[in-house]
Amino acid sequence: MTANFAPAFAADDTVSTARRRLARALATAGKEPADLEARILLETATGLAALALLTRGDETLGAAAETLEKFAARRLAGEPVNRITGTTNFFGLDLTVAPNVLDPRADTEILVETALELMARKGFQNPRILDLGVGSGAILCALLDSRPDAFGIGVDLSPHACAATQANLARCGLTSRGTVIRGDWTAALSGRFDLIVSNPPYIRHAEIAELDPEVRDHDPRLALDGGPDGLAPYRLLSVELARLLRPGGVACLEIGWLQGAEVSALFRAKSLAQVSCRRDHGGRDRVIAIES
Ligand SMILES: C[S@@+](CC[C@H](N)C(=O)[O-])C[C@H]1O[C@@H](n2cnc3c(N)ncnc32)[C@H](O)[C@@H]1O
Repeated sequence: MTANFAPAFAADDTVSTARRRLARALATAGKEPADLEARILLETATGLAALALLTRGDETLGAAAETLEKFAARRLAGEPVNRITGTTNFFGLDLTVAPNVLDPRADTEILVETALELMARKGFQNPRILDLGVGSGAILCALLDSRPDAFGIGVDLSPHACAATQANLARCGLTSRGTVIRGDWTAALSGRFDLIVSNPPYIRHAEIAELDPEVRDHDPRLALDGGPDGLAPYRLLSVELARLLRPGGVACLEIGWLQGAEVSALFRAKSLAQVSCRRDHGGRDRVIAIES
């Protein structure tokens, strides 16, 4: 096994030298896209924006050298960039990435796009939205931000996720229209919703150990483990949607890319009016849309 040596940085290194050295170390360790990762880590360590990294590249790192050196060591040890910076961009929103909460993925943006399209096509006004397994609040915040007439509730069993959603709602200025409840899926819920969204845990239990260590060791197990066949949350949702979705309402559920047929069949068996599968930008099945 080859050890990945973290580069050292000194206070009198220039910003551009440090950037090049960090990008080289990341590329050598196979952390790609290395240039982008180096830029993000440097921005966070120095407080300089992307453009300033270029225009002020001759300036020295100063006190930021120590921070950058720690960031480089953490990244080379396998910690994802978003965990190091504590932030991510999701659907154009800057969100906090908290420990013990799933780092929202770009693939999930297709669920938000699908939900917005369906709500527009069906002419929903002042929609009531439910996000089951709300995590960081990424989906809920994106939907509320895009639909100023909407009100939303997020549910999660994890207290860390509930706190993260609360923090991200506040960060996005959405606390007057969004709220979070700690609970076990739909157990504490009554009433009906226009839109139900969920990105539930969908990895088969036995596959968790085989996951990329950057996922397995940094995202919480509760956010990943979908039971023996990865379908446990969908079975519960296939029963509960009929109770919680208003007539004419829609649900959008993220799925693992090989689960399209099985998850669609679960919902078709419940005679929900229309079930369709949407692909992500990589052409893989990603979202099940259910119209009641
Ligand atoms: C894959 S993560 C999705 C998080 C977020 N919605 C996103 O897309 O980034 C699944 C979420 O479901 C939550 N969860 C797992 N089991 C749950 C349960 N029994 N009741 C409520 N939430 C649960 C996890 O804590 C986690 O936040």
